[in-house]
Amino acid sequence: MSSWIETTPAPPPARFSAVRGPRPRAVLGVLMISLLHVFASLPAHAGQGIGRQASAGEIAAVDTDVRGDGAGLPPGSGSVAQGEALYEEKCAACHGDFGEGTGRMPALIGGEGSLATDRPRRTIGSFWPFAPSLFDYLRRAMPFGQAGSLSAAETYALTAFLLNINGIAKEDFIASRESLPGVKMPNRAGFVIAPRPASPNTRCMKNCRAPARVMARAKAKGSEK
Ligand code: HEC
Repeated sequence: MSSWIETTPAPPPARFSAVRGPRPRAVLGVLMISLLHVFASLPAHAGQGIGRQASAGEIAAVDTDVRGDGAGLPPGSGSVAQGEALYEEKCAACHGDFGEGTGRMPALIGGEGSLATDRPRRTIGSFWPFAPSLFDYLRRAMPFGQAGSLSAAETYALTAFLLNINGIAKEDFIASRESLPGVKMPNRAGFVIAPRPASPNTRCMKNCRAPARVMARAKAKGSEK
């Protein structure tokens, strides 16, 4: 602390002394002491003394992740018909009236049987392994440019509709926390644990080779002899 105080600028020359307030060192001392008081009065959880603990509501607003098995799905539900109306209003402009895609905006249907071909088309029906992930994605990322604007009920309805136009759910399907984990996605079995080892070599645990010395050398053109 003292070394910091010693590096503060010297007081201005004497001719300014008439307008000078308290001596800089005194000001600094008072400042430091009041800062110490502020830090000491912060609750222990403030850690580094910066910020405050997030409230339960603030955490809930961003804690929206849903696992493939459905863990994290919120209460609520939505039907295919409700989803269709929402889709027309909020999604069709980009993804096409039937989910066929427009321009460079991705298709949400089709592609079945294409994954092993030269031009795989990955869609909900051809690629996605879990229905709850669709809910997670929509609530997190769509509509593009207005991410986070869909309510849980709207997201359930859109999920139901997209599953329906992919031929995965019937017209009377109601998407909910209870129903989505049980939906069997066509490509579910297409996801396997990669059989490759994480590393081609066996990890050395003792008497290991000294780490290589990495050297950087700059070479200017024409400098090599
Ligand atoms: C302004 C254009 C736009 C709108 C509106 C829009 N999307 Fe998208 N959507 C996109 C783009 C672009 C992507 C690709 C994003 C990426 O890959 O990061 C995408 C990706 C998706 C995907 C993932 C496709 C896949 O298999 O990878 C789904 C599902 C989806 N959108 C559904 C919806 C739904 C449902 C709505 C309406 C609530 C919607 N989108 C509104 C542009 C849009």
